[in-house]
Amino acid sequence: MLRFVTSNPGKVREAREYLPEPVERVAYDYPEIQSEDLGAIAAAGARDAFEEVGEPVFVDDAGLFIDAFDGFPGPYSSYVEDRLGIERVRTLASREDDDAASFRAVVAYADDDTVETFEGAVPGRIVAPCGDGGFGYDPIFEHRGRTFAEMSTEEKNAVSHRGRALSKFADWLAERNDGSRSDG
Ligand code: IMP
Repeated sequence: MLRFVTSNPGKVREAREYLPEPVERVAYDYPEIQSEDLGAIAAAGARDAFEEVGEPVFVDDAGLFIDAFDGFPGPYSSYVEDRLGIERVRTLASREDDDAASFRAVVAYADDDTVETFEGAVPGRIVAPCGDGGFGYDPIFEHRGRTFAEMSTEEKNAVSHRGRALSKFADWLAERNDGSRSDG
């Protein structure tokens, strides 16, 4: 069983579709360090959550990086979603010539002897809100002609930043489990 420390049920839904082991949500709000580096934020969060929970855990830190804004809101995506809302982000972005953006996610796993990070990114563009699935910025992020909010969880996972990071995490878990089986 894998413990996913997050307050976001949308992320848990996506992780459950992806990972080969059952995923349990642990609702602990770990403090986020201030950094421009999602990997550093996720690694610090995983370490803190492991100390709090006392069992191996993983966390996920993600953000929307808008090219015309030099990557903003990036690590500040949550704050900007709360204060401005995704429609105003889209309105601001629509004044720019370049509508390119990417989502990035880092999954970080921590136990008593390691902290491992797994990154994923997906390119897309900022569009008028469309679709009612997903969460967060999904309605304004279009990838290959459809927004993430127009995709099922399975379709989003197949192409998304989180899907890519979770896939690397799943490969690492499988290798580690194979290693411990042959060791013992
Ligand atoms: P955090 O990783 O939970 O800190 O999320 C940062 C911000 O990005 C929040 O506003 C989330 O709603 C948003 N976000 C994270 N992942 C996704 C996603 O897969 N789709 C849309 N928005 C996301």
